[in-house]
This record gives sequence, structure tokens and C-alpha cells, in this order.
Amino acid sequence: MKDEPSNRNFNSSDPLKSADVDSILDSFRYFKGRRYHNLADVTYLLPNDDKEVERLNLQHNIFKFVWKNNFSSPVHELLKSGKAKILDVGCGTGYWLLDMAKEYPQALFVGIDMSPIFPDIKDVPTNVFFLQLNLNDGIPFPNETFDFVIQRCLCNCVVYEKWEFYVKEMIRVAKHGGWLEFFEFSIDHNDQQLMKSVSSGFKAKGINSRPETCVPQFLEKCQELSKVHYENNYIPIGDRAGQLGAMMTTYISMNVETVKLLLTSAWELDDDEYDSRFEEAKLEFNTSKNYAQSFRWFSRKI
Ligand SMILES: C[S@@+](CC[C@H](N)C(=O)[O-])C[C@H]1O[C@@H](n2cnc3c(N)ncnc32)[C@H](O)[C@@H]1O
Repeated sequence: MKDEPSNRNFNSSDPLKSADVDSILDSFRYFKGRRYHNLADVTYLLPNDDKEVERLNLQHNIFKFVWKNNFSSPVHELLKSGKAKILDVGCGTGYWLLDMAKEYPQALFVGIDMSPIFPDIKDVPTNVFFLQLNLNDGIPFPNETFDFVIQRCLCNCVVYEKWEFYVKEMIRVAKHGGWLEFFEFSIDHNDQQLMKSVSSGFKAKGINSRPETCVPQFLEKCQELSKVHYENNYIPIGDRAGQLGAMMTTYISMNVETVKLLLTSAWELDDDEYDSRFEEAKLEFNTSKNYAQSFRWFSRKI
């Protein structure tokens, strides 16, 4: 995927505001050199340019390194059987799907996302399909289409009420007896100032960046789901934790850089203050025992 030249700037100082007259017909809007979606009804704060693709791919590699597999639901046999249909909701760059399609060449995989950051068609196996769409309009498949429906890192970056609607849609398109999996990530900020600012900035926009505080509670209430299973992995941050810790420091630096534009512009945090808090945070990652967690909640549709 190639970025378009970003010689245009979104007029508003707030990249989150809905499109202005000039950009209403454009697929993207640009803010301080980063490219964002341009859907007026979507409050998704992260960019969708090449740098974001890099961040998402690093995130995928970290998850692979930590979990040593791509999912926790007991669907291995089903996926091997060759009859399974799998849906990845908010699939981003589609790396999870490409990995899975290689492992299960007989199964059929569909990825949906509003941003066209899918892999190059020449890299896409014939059992994987991508659709560009806005989840706010619902998932465009009939009831009970899929055997396995997954979302990864969706809850922690979309407006919580919308996420609840997406989950209901995920349940609707899953077959009875099929599995649903919610694969999330959260940074334990231990009162770390910068991480706290990021969390509260997201919260102010209706986004809960701590999925462990809302996902299980919501799933337990869904009557169409049976027992909700849970697995998690702690991921250390900082040089003390070797290669993984260093990967995490790079990944968090990329996250912090990504939301800096938003925190400093839209949320009126001072640029210098942000940078110095970031330096503090980096020091802290290397000196104290900070960690992130990756969670998987999975359940069978009754
Ligand atoms: C943090 S990324 C995670 C991507 C992928 N699941 C992964 O784990 O690499 C969240 C994804 O959700 C997508 N998304 C957010 N809101 C959406 C909406 N309303 N409709 C479709 N996709 C949406 C974004 O475009 C983005 O690709």
C-alpha cells in the first residue's frame, strides 16, 4: 500500500471533527503528515497510512511471539476439516488472516475493515477475501454464516457503545455452535503519567483502552453465548526483558507517537510537556517492572 502525497491538510485543528466541505468526498483526510479515514460517523482515532501498517505488523509479530499461536478457541479440527468459514472483524492489515490461511488452506477466510490497508493482492491466497466497509452499518452477511468470528484490538480503540453493537453483529453472523473470540491488549500504566494521559484522552472520546474492565462483563451478559473462557499473557516492557522487552519499547514508542498528534492538538496537551513525559515513560519502562497484557475471551454461540 502506498501513501498518497500529503500536501493537503485537514482544515480543522481537530483531526477528529467530521469532514469539512472540501474533504467530504475524499476517502481520507490528512493531519500533520498522517493519513486518517474520512468517515463522519466513525470516531476511530488512529491513522491508516504506511507507518500505521508498520505498527500493526509489529503488533502482530509481538502477539505471535508471546502466544505462539493465533487463537485460543477449540476450532483447530474444524478449521482443518475444510468446511469452516472464518470472519476477522476490523482486520486491519490482514496479517492474522494470511497466517491462518497458510495454516488452514482448506478453510475460507474473510476480513472486513473500513480502511484499505489490506495486503497486496499478489500476496493474498485464494482462500482469503477482504471487504472494505464501515462496521457502523452492520456486518453485511446473513445470520449464522461463520463458524469462527474473531476481533483483535478493536474494543480498545473504538467507541465502547459502537463496540457493543459490533459484538451483537458478530454474534448474529456466527453459526449456532460456532465460536467467537475477543483478542485484546492493554498497557498497565501503574500511574505512569503519559500512559494515564493517553488513557484519559481516549476515555474522553468514549473509548475504553482497558478492555479487561469491560469485555468480560459485557460478554457474560450476552444470552446467546455460553460460558466465556479466558486466557491472558503478560508482556514485559523495557530492555530488562531482552528481545521481547525491546520490541515492546519500540511498539509503545510507535503508539505514543501515533496518539501524540491527537493528544497535543485535539486534547490540548503541550507539545514539550508530552515529549518530556514520553522520555520519563521510556526511562521508567527500563527501570521498573512495567508490563502489558494480551487477553483472549472466547465463547460458543448457543
Ligand atoms: C487497532 S486496529 C487492529 C487491526 C487488526 N485487528 C490487528 O489486530 O492487527 C483496529 C482496526 O479497526 C478498524 N475499524 C475501526 N472502526 C471501524 C469501523 N467503524 N468499521 C470498520 N473498521 C473499523 C480500523 O480501521 C483498524 O484497522
